[in-house]
Amino acid sequence: MAMRPKARDMAGGAESGGASGPIVVLVVHGPNLNLLGVREPEIYGRTRLADIDKELKQLGRELEMKVETFQSNSEGGIVDRIQKARGKCDVLILNPGSYTHTSIAIRDAIQAVSIPVIEVHLSNVYRREAFRHHSTIADIAHGRIMGFGAESYSLALRAARTMAEESRRRSA
Ligand code: DQA
Repeated sequence: MAMRPKARDMAGGAESGGASGPIVVLVVHGPNLNLLGVREPEIYGRTRLADIDKELKQLGRELEMKVETFQSNSEGGIVDRIQKARGKCDVLILNPGSYTHTSIAIRDAIQAVSIPVIEVHLSNVYRREAFRHHSTIADIAHGRIMGFGAESYSLALRAARTMAEESRRRSA
């Protein structure tokens, strides 16, 4: 079986996305983010999740990347989706919602698939309650973007492109 060259060394990513074909970015939204637009709009803004996903796909087309999106309210659903991305995705953009502060399972899934991660939050968690200051994935994320509302995601997508290009260049 022919092996595709791998986007190897961003996060020790021996199984990361292929070095040929379009850059693939998976965007994963955690619990309660399906309620964006109506949930505490003074904190999270008025943009709905469907509109964020639509804009990311559009930006992906402009930047010549394939953008896949996924939302789940369950920890297991997020772990399953991350596992499914193994070997098929260059960069994972992840907003784990409240699981940011508690989930070792999501952290383990990220390490198991070796896909470089950008951690994203709509709000600046450091301006909020102390329990939001801890992230179980901060130290294994390639970078973190927060506090820009829906724009946090588009900033992350632009950063993902640079990361994937550099990774592919290195492994070429
Ligand atoms: C959040 C911040 C988390 O503390 C919170 O539980 C969320 C959303 C954000 O995007 O700002 O659900 O991840």
